[in-house]
Amino acid sequence: MTVRRSVVRGVGAYLPARVMTNEELSRKVATDDAWIQQRTGIRERHLAAEGEYTSHLGIAAARAALANAKMSADAIDLVVLATSTPDQTFPATAVTIQAELGILKGAAFDVQAVCSGFVYALATADLFLRSGSFQRALVIGAETFSRLLDWSDRTTCVLFGDGAGALVLEAEEQPGTMKDRGVLTTQLRSDGRYREKLYVDGGPSTTGTTGHLHMEGREVFRYAVGMITDVVDAAFSATGYGANDIDWFVPHQANRRIIDGSAKKLGIAPEKIVITVDRHANTSAASIPLALAQAAGDGRIKSGNLVLLEAMGGGFTWASALVRW
Ligand code: UT7
Repeated sequence: MTVRRSVVRGVGAYLPARVMTNEELSRKVATDDAWIQQRTGIRERHLAAEGEYTSHLGIAAARAALANAKMSADAIDLVVLATSTPDQTFPATAVTIQAELGILKGAAFDVQAVCSGFVYALATADLFLRSGSFQRALVIGAETFSRLLDWSDRTTCVLFGDGAGALVLEAEEQPGTMKDRGVLTTQLRSDGRYREKLYVDGGPSTTGTTGHLHMEGREVFRYAVGMITDVVDAAFSATGYGANDIDWFVPHQANRRIIDGSAKKLGIAPEKIVITVDRHANTSAASIPLALAQAAGDGRIKSGNLVLLEAMGGGFTWASALVRW
């Protein structure tokens, strides 16, 4: 008996032109390149220009993904955007992207799960495609975290960057085994008891302002590897796969030490890890699709490869997915 799967048709990304190096940052706050590289692996980040919004980044990434899929925008009937930095409080930034791409059917909405947002958006789109509600989805992660930063706080402003990435998914009948192409499993978790460890101190219903990002970095770090490995183990249990079966490990790019620590604990070989945190910093919901676009674009990720995604961030939220490309 065949089953409907959400198969990846294309991937694309967009990074704003402006690059800020650690050296440039060290002229603004009391930090230095050696500290940032040693603690995080970050060398530089991209920053959106004045007047360049999350929707602009998302539209550019979506166009690149559609071109990669050789598909026109009017084939899309679902747009799910993962972002914590929408253009406006409402409407959803996804509807701006939908309109600018000229999509006149189906539905578009935002998903907010901070750094885990892309995996949450992927899981949401996958359920809609597999249920038969929609046929072809754009799943986008787009962020302008630079707008949430307190640029005088060295403990946070060195860590984040702006960018966007997108996948085109299409529902397709597959044989119904774990050798199928497409999204094989998604695993989502949250625990709101940790919500004050990483948060923004503003919002429409509280302060009426946007607010700034605050993080107890050491605390987030303390939980990260355990949560990531638990949710990856859940994806392995759901599919019967293990670390040796993975072709590519594409983690959320927050900190090189968290990525390496998680891979080591899971037993994933270092040469299978896709790293972009050095050049992008933490772009929250955009980091996984940016890394996917990089590794598929340079020929590392190929059709048929088994790709493991994971993320952890504010909420806390954490999530994983196994996708056969
Ligand atoms: O996307 C998911 C959410 N975010 C994360 O996953 C981030 C998780 N956390 C981290 O990545 C790390 O905890 C950080 C990179 C944020 C910090 O690294 P750390 O090794 O945990 O450093 P720390 O917070 O323990 O700080 C060590 C020292 C402190 O000085 P004292 O108190 O030891 O004198 C900080 O004040 O480093 C100081 N420090 C800095 N020094 C230079 C903090 N930020 C900086 C800085 N430059 N930018």
